Amino acid sequence: MALLDVSGISVSYGRVNALTDVSLQVNEGEIVTVLGANGAGKSTLLKAVLGAVPVKGGGITFADTDITHAAPHKRIGEGLVLVPEGRRILISLTVEENLRLGAHMRRDGTAIAREMDAIYARFSNLAERRNMLASCLSGGEQQMLAIGRAMMAKPRLMMLDEPSLGLSPLFVSKLFDLIRELNHDGLAVLLVEQNTGKALSVAHRATVLELGRVTMAGDPKALAADPALQAAYLGTGEASPA
Ligand SMILES: Nc1ncnc2c1ncn2[C@@H]1O[C@H](COP(=O)(O)OP(=O)(O)O)[C@@H](O)[C@H]1O
Ligand SMILES: [Mg+2]
Repeated sequence: MALLDVSGISVSYGRVNALTDVSLQVNEGEIVTVLGANGAGKSTLLKAVLGAVPVKGGGITFADTDITHAAPHKRIGEGLVLVPEGRRILISLTVEENLRLGAHMRRDGTAIAREMDAIYARFSNLAERRNMLASCLSGGEQQMLAIGRAMMAKPRLMMLDEPSLGLSPLFVSKLFDLIRELNHDGLAVLLVEQNTGKALSVAHRATVLELGRVTMAGDPKALAADPALQAAYLGTGEASPA
């Protein structure tokens, strides 16, 4: 059974249907990417999985537990975590205080300290700046901090909402290396990206959303070669003639 199984969910904001009958699975050990234009419903999908917006139809299971109506903190406790769009780190707190916030669900002090050491070992930039205010970090370092903070919850599945947005090309490639490494170390990843080419290159499977519905899903190589997807998101193909 899939680690995350989203089955036919619908979400609306008042009269706006943001998601209609959306299904998607993430298996243990996988990177799954969700692509789509602005307003397609990508962020809403991640928020629904986290429990930050209610679903009005369908179901969500995570690690064999029905979480369709569970509170977000319960889901985080089960091993689900979201690195939201725009990072949302607290710039008036230090790097270490931000990391500590990621572990606020956990009570095992020694395990938390071990996790913090592991994060500092992985991110030397953060280790060097642990007592500095997060506002002193570059955009790329702030994204690493947001990911480090999410790691503090010891997730089994990390959802990332447009993590490469606004980063320099150097940091974009560091970010994708990091996603690969974390996945290699056993983390499942659900990745929403504008950088379609990069996302398809790291993903094991991909899903395309249009106006809140799944329009394509499958092998990233096949999707990357699809003329309609190229025209819409990769900026390489011509729109096919009618
Ligand atoms: N809080 C909200 N209130 C009302 N409508 C919203 C809200 N958030 C998103 N929407 C609408 O839901 C749709 C999907 O938005 P979103 O999930 O943010 O798309 P994406 O992340 O793919 O750009 C859009 O039509 C958007 O305008
Ligand atoms: Mg979004």
